[in-house]
Amino acid sequence: MPKKKTSNVSIKRRSFLTNSVKASVIGAAAAGFPHIWMKQGNVFAANNEIKVGVLFSLTGGLAIIEESLHKATIMAIEEINAAGGVNGMKLKAIEADPASDPATFAAKARTLVLKEKCVTVFGSYTSASRKAVLPVFEKRNNLYFYPTLYEGRECSKNVIYTGAVPNQQQDDFIPYLVKTYGKRWSLIGSNYIYPKEENNYCKILLKKLGCEVLMEEYVPLGHSEFSSVVNKFKNDKPDVIFSTVVGDSVVALHKQYRAAGLNPDKMPMASLTTSENEVAAMGGDAAAGHLTSAPYFMVHQSAENEKFVSSYKKRWGSDKVTHFVSEPAYFGVYIFKQALERLGASGDITPPNIMEACKGQELIAPQGKIRIDPDNLHTYLWPKIGICKSDGQFDIIQKTDNWLKPLPYAAYPDQTCTEKGLVNA
Ligand code: ACM
Repeated sequence: MPKKKTSNVSIKRRSFLTNSVKASVIGAAAAGFPHIWMKQGNVFAANNEIKVGVLFSLTGGLAIIEESLHKATIMAIEEINAAGGVNGMKLKAIEADPASDPATFAAKARTLVLKEKCVTVFGSYTSASRKAVLPVFEKRNNLYFYPTLYEGRECSKNVIYTGAVPNQQQDDFIPYLVKTYGKRWSLIGSNYIYPKEENNYCKILLKKLGCEVLMEEYVPLGHSEFSSVVNKFKNDKPDVIFSTVVGDSVVALHKQYRAAGLNPDKMPMASLTTSENEVAAMGGDAAAGHLTSAPYFMVHQSAENEKFVSSYKKRWGSDKVTHFVSEPAYFGVYIFKQALERLGASGDITPPNIMEACKGQELIAPQGKIRIDPDNLHTYLWPKIGICKSDGQFDIIQKTDNWLKPLPYAAYPDQTCTEKGLVNA
């Protein structure tokens, strides 16, 4: 429990406050209830525990990926608690399974925030589910840690984004693919906001490089019948198939591509969403020769990654893999811990204060040193390009020599996400 939970609001503490929290405090004090501060702190940090929500699907079509995000998040919480907790308090994970359904995500998020009084929630893979929970966090000024690569074009002050945005996955990847394989491209994605925005950015880069888009097609989430799509690949013979298909559809697409006898050496699938996790589900033979761009691969060599991989296997099973979404799910919990430490044992543990304290945080993650951008709350990451092998792991064939700033509005040069919100030029 923080030692100093008194009604004396210090100048320093006050400077952290958002206007809405300030208003409630001033109102309560005026009404003769200055002890509201004590309640405010206790709501989120009672019984020597800080409650955090863990909101990942353990059932439904997205469980293939979200179960691993759940595991990485829980492991980080367990590690932090085993090392003594934060500011003398333990983290208590309140787990919820939203069953791969955006509406259930929103309902469970509301329960975690309103009933369970979680000070922060770690959750979700798809942008559809992030968009579904966003109003829950924005309306109550609560805080959400989102670990997944996504399309950008978001400037929320209630989300810490630890996954990649388009410039961090595509800026090196697209020119590499054009140079290595050619200029005739087919685009295949799942039918929702993430693939459409990601393809929007891809087409901007392709246009600059003088490329031709032969096909742009979207299939429903959970789609598993790719014969007509694969037939188009056969007929069109693109140089590159750019895939933003997600979830268990990734497995079906790769298997049906393979069954049709197509050759990844001549017509590779280049993906932003195919990780070691999906490859483990489809088998290395179906994925071999295809490429992925991501800031993290399991084979990355660093002392921090060695520890992450061995701890993960020890905790969850020697057959388990780590990947470019489970790694930011894992280090996101450590960013949260550092933010609490920055607030200090006597700090007020509230979502807006934690958000403020996340700004500019740095740590050595398994992928390398990362940093939370203080303006847009996204993360500086280390882009890499991997080619998949039949053993289910990737060969890293290109990597940046420095971290790359997140630009969530890279496709929209007239807009910038600043500390004050979205600014239009
Ligand atoms: C995603 O929906 N952000 C993969």
